[in-house]
Amino acid sequence: MPSYAFFQKQFLPQAKAKVGILTHAFNYGTACFEGIRGHWNSDEEQMYLFRVKEHYQRLLEGCQLLKMELPYTIDELCQITVELVRRCGYREDVYIRPIAYKSSEILGVRLHDLEDDFAIAVAPFAPYLNFEDGIRCCVSSWRRINDDMIPPRGKICGPYVNSALAKTEAVASGFDEAILLSTGGHVSEGSGENIFLVLDGKLVTPPCYDSILLGVTRDTVIELAKSEVGIETMERSIDRSELYIAEECFLTGTAAYVTPVIEIDHRPVAKGKVGPITRELLKVYLDVVYGRNKKYLHWCTPTYSKVEA
Ligand SMILES: Cc1ncc(COP(=O)(O)O)c(C=O)c1O
Repeated sequence: MPSYAFFQKQFLPQAKAKVGILTHAFNYGTACFEGIRGHWNSDEEQMYLFRVKEHYQRLLEGCQLLKMELPYTIDELCQITVELVRRCGYREDVYIRPIAYKSSEILGVRLHDLEDDFAIAVAPFAPYLNFEDGIRCCVSSWRRINDDMIPPRGKICGPYVNSALAKTEAVASGFDEAILLSTGGHVSEGSGENIFLVLDGKLVTPPCYDSILLGVTRDTVIELAKSEVGIETMERSIDRSELYIAEECFLTGTAAYVTPVIEIDHRPVAKGKVGPITRELLKVYLDVVYGRNKKYLHWCTPTYSKVEA
C-alpha cells in the first residue's frame, strides 16, 4: 500500500519526502520527534490514535528546548495527523512519526539562526517487544543522559544514540532490552520505555528528576492503575537492588504497551512469569487504546468516518 507523508507543508507520497545530506538535523541530531500509535479496531472498522494531543504537547516542549517554532497549534497538528492517516488508509496498527527538525543545509553546531521544518511519516507497526510472554532485561553499562547534558524530557533525536548503545549492548549479550541507571546511580528507564516495579503490592516508578522521558504511557498507566485496578503509584528514586527484590516489573511505552519483565540480570522476577498486576494492567491498557473501553474514548481520536471505513 503506498504510504503518504506530510512534508514541507503538504501531503505527498512518502518516497518523495527526502532531505539533503547537509541538513542540520541529519548532521547534529538537532531535531525532536514523537511516536504515536494508531490502533486498528476491526470490530468497529476504526483506527484510533492514542492521546495525540499529549504527544504534540511534548513535541512542542521539545521544540522549545531546541529553540524551534512550529507554525501550527496542537489542534492543527492533530488535524494534520488524522488527515494523513486517513489518506494512507491502513487497516492495521500503525506508528506515526512526527519530527520537527533544523532544516537549514548548513554546517556549524548551534541552535540559533537556523530554519525549522516539520514532517510526519506513517508505517504499519508490529508489537515492539514480547508483551504477551514477557522479556529479559539487563542493567546497562551505559548511564542515561542527564538533564544538564541533554534534557531527557524532550524526545530529542541526538540523545537516542544513548538508547541505541544500550539496546545493542543488551541484545548482543542475549537480552531483549536494557535498563539504564541515571548518572546518580538510580534506576532511570529502558532504552525506549519507562519502568515500573511492584513492591509490597504498590506500584513504584522513577520520578522526572531521575533522567526519564515523561512517557504518555507512563501517565496513562498511573491513571488506569488507580481508577481501574485500585493501585496507587509512588514516584520515587529506585535503587538497582530493588530490581532484584521486586514482586513484578514492567516497561511502558507507545511501542512497548505494558511489557512484563520476567528476568533482570539473569535473576527471575515474579518467579520468571508474568505477574498478576502486570497482566491486569496490560489488559486494561489494551482495551483503552483500541477504543473498547468507552470510558476512555476521550483519549482515542477516530481517523475514519463510518462511510470511508
Ligand atoms: C527513552 C524513552 N522513554 C520512555 C518512552 C515511553 O514514552 P511514551 O509512553 O510516551 O511512548 C519512550 C518512547 O518513545 C522513550 O523513547
